[in-house]
Amino acid sequence: MTVRYGIIGCGAIAQRRHIPECLANPESKLVALADPNQARAEELARRFGASSFIDYKQMLKAAPLDAVVVCGPNSLHAEQAIAALKSGRHVLVEKPMATTLKDARAMIDTAKKANKYLMVGQNQRLMAPHVKAKAILATGALGKVLTFYTSFKHGGPEGWSIDGVKGFFFQRDQAVMGVTGDLGVHKVDLIRWLLDDEISQVGGIITTVDKLGADAKPIALDDNACLTVKTRRGVVGTIEVSWTNYGGEDNKVVIYGQKGVMYLGTDPDFGVVVRYRDGNSEFHKVGAIATNVKQVASGVIDAFTRSIQTKTPPAIDGMEGYRSLEVILTAMAAAKSGKTLKIGG
Ligand SMILES: NC(=O)c1ccc[n+]([C@@H]2O[C@H](COP(=O)([O-])OP(=O)(O)OC[C@H]3O[C@@H](n4cnc5c(N)ncnc54)[C@H](O)[C@@H]3O)[C@@H](O)[C@H]2O)c1
Repeated sequence: MTVRYGIIGCGAIAQRRHIPECLANPESKLVALADPNQARAEELARRFGASSFIDYKQMLKAAPLDAVVVCGPNSLHAEQAIAALKSGRHVLVEKPMATTLKDARAMIDTAKKANKYLMVGQNQRLMAPHVKAKAILATGALGKVLTFYTSFKHGGPEGWSIDGVKGFFFQRDQAVMGVTGDLGVHKVDLIRWLLDDEISQVGGIITTVDKLGADAKPIALDDNACLTVKTRRGVVGTIEVSWTNYGGEDNKVVIYGQKGVMYLGTDPDFGVVVRYRDGNSEFHKVGAIATNVKQVASGVIDAFTRSIQTKTPPAIDGMEGYRSLEVILTAMAAAKSGKTLKIGG
């Protein structure tokens, strides 16, 4: 069975990843596109032989779809995902899956009730260096993990969004979260998955240092965050995310274990480098980490299509998205209060 997709939100992520990845997979078919920007939806629909809608509700009513990708502004993810699930479609929702835990929970409950899959686009887990790192960690080669450092920094979403500086990323009502929800949620999710552990407490500084909106005034959202976290197993780490790295893009992880240190994304030639305590080193030439400028197939559509076809629940399900969002929302509350907070506490 070919999986027939409809896409809600025809912006950068749809155009650079979901549409091409849907077209590239012989098991998936792009059927419909929805976006309030009529010209944008129509042009893409014409180009790719799909139908276009201004109102996503009309698309859910009229188009023959098995699955829907929800990839518009953050504030709309919950409402649109719930409507798609209720209409009997599987849903792939972009990160952050929602802007409140209540909404995230409602999405999970709706999927369960409708007996449909809900996958969250936390695609960092699928990138080749990260997959390799997970496999190395599983062998125990690094010994007990003690600490980590991770960063995700680029020059800001205005260089990525289809609407540039006027895009939803800088509108507080639509984005709700700044860089912490945009890049922070990626790294929180990646660390939880790599370490197979849950972040149990978080503190830090979340602030706006430089970024200006379309009105040339500082944006009303965070553009930098430095978080300190501790996991249930006692691993201590820092997560730095930024929209003001004007020198390119940086997406790194360093994991310090009792037997050695693993570096991801720090060497231009080797995606994974391991330096052992006994003096030995390993250099793994695995695929690259995607950047905004250099796109690498994310594998998200392929994974979701396989999931639907084989009736296997997606590994990155609603609950995974929920847990990563919970850390981010707690981090925001922690930064506001100036205290370190327990997750779920
Ligand atoms: N997984 C990743 O690596 C990744 C990367 C980039 C973006 N994203 C996520 O994808 C989502 C979209 O980001 P983007 O980069 O495509 O943004 P973008 O600014 O390029 O595009 C947003 C699109 O949403 C449309 N839109 C606005 N209101 C809408 C509505 N009511 N219904 C449907 N569409 C509507 C806009 O017209 C625009 O076409 C965000 O949640 C973002 O966090 C994920």
